[in-house]
Amino acid sequence: MKKIRLGILGATRGLSYGMSAKKCGLPVDLVAVCDNFSPLIEKVRERLPALGLEPEYFSDFTEMLNKADIDVVAIANSANDHARFSIAALNAGKHVLSELLPVQTPAEAVALVEAVERSGKVYYYAENYCYRPGILEAARLFREGVIGDLIYAEANFVNDLAARWHLLTRGIRNHWRNYVPSTYYCTHSIGPMVFALREHPVRVTGFEVPNQEFMREHGARCGCAAIEIMQLANGVPLRSTHGNLRRSWETSMRLVGTKGSLEACHDSVVFYYPSGDCASPFEGRQMPIRPVDGIPDSVFQDEVAMQLAIFLGQILNEPQLRQYDIDVYQALDMALPGIMAYRSIVNGNTPVAIPDFREKSIREEYRHDNICTDPGVASGAELLPSHSFGEITVPDSIYEKEAALLKESMEKHFKLGFY
Ligand SMILES: NC(=O)c1ccc[n+]([C@@H]2O[C@H](COP(=O)([O-])OP(=O)(O)OC[C@H]3O[C@@H](n4cnc5c(N)ncnc54)[C@H](O)[C@@H]3O)[C@@H](O)[C@H]2O)c1
Repeated sequence: MKKIRLGILGATRGLSYGMSAKKCGLPVDLVAVCDNFSPLIEKVRERLPALGLEPEYFSDFTEMLNKADIDVVAIANSANDHARFSIAALNAGKHVLSELLPVQTPAEAVALVEAVERSGKVYYYAENYCYRPGILEAARLFREGVIGDLIYAEANFVNDLAARWHLLTRGIRNHWRNYVPSTYYCTHSIGPMVFALREHPVRVTGFEVPNQEFMREHGARCGCAAIEIMQLANGVPLRSTHGNLRRSWETSMRLVGTKGSLEACHDSVVFYYPSGDCASPFEGRQMPIRPVDGIPDSVFQDEVAMQLAIFLGQILNEPQLRQYDIDVYQALDMALPGIMAYRSIVNGNTPVAIPDFREKSIREEYRHDNICTDPGVASGAELLPSHSFGEITVPDSIYEKEAALLKESMEKHFKLGFY
């Protein structure tokens, strides 16, 4: 079988897809890498041949699209700048794997949905937290009916990145992580719930945890975490909490039903159910994590290889891999609640509708809606402040310090993939 030819935009996390290509069990080769940060590309170019990888290098995405012979593209540049590159790739007849997040505004969401529909190509959203073994098993138990009908769900994603901020933001004042709103990076917590329930949340109310010194001293000008309270069309409430909070990394999801509840974290699930004993009314049973149909054991523990297998499986029409797909509509079910929650926050925590762009009639209302915190996309009344509790000012000296730390780290501890 002819190998699928992979190109990558963004040589940090994006490079992981190239490095996992050999492990994913499907025929794919990394043939092109695009990144416009030359110190990074120099290191990548030096080190990849030792892994048997010798792609062509580009600093301009359009040039990669026009010149490299690629079938699929992994879009893994700045998280708030994916839509225009995904759309360009789809228009050029490429299948797209998008890293987080799919879009920054409703206008981009409408344009992306329509580009996917027009192209007939696969668009896959790489929300890796849906594939954590505990989350996958909880989703499967829920669909098997173990807890009955859903009455409430909640999920957390906590990742205090303060100590690594210089590696991530390079001391760039206008790096997306320094100005996107607290609600934006929401799909690690909302994603697993949407993936398990396969439902579209219809409205959201947002809350912001204010900007804190431990983030501000590294250059972040936004709130440090956020909470979204959502509702499904049948009234069931969902709660998501995510961001930089002072604890170690956490991913967790709780699904509460009429017969019991499932509590999942990275690699385990506990099923709680009524015991019938009034002295000790609930029992908790640790559930075994079963092998995942259609996904070889060899990739089950390597989430990047697994995502690549699921993405390529859609292209190659592998029926068993279809059940794990996250298409453009589900990507937006996961991401739009965060985008709309910020509007709720700046409007005094009032509920805001979450559009469902499966409905063509709804698209017109949002086609020109560019409201966001990115001055490159919004201006005037559409440009929202990055922090709802008042503008945060950060002196240049902070960004200079972070840039110096990055330089030192790249010299001493450079790691391919996500350094
Ligand atoms: N799934 C996960 O667990 C996870 C973890 C970390 C990051 N991510 C995602 O990975 C992606 C990269 O994250 P990051 O923090 O490294 O982002 P980043 O903004 O630092 O950019 C990543 C790379 O893309 C390059 N780049 C940006 N714009 C470009 C352009 N127009 N042309 C060429 N190159 C460009 C940058 O030089 C950088 O090397 C994001 O989408 C992020 O959401 C996902």
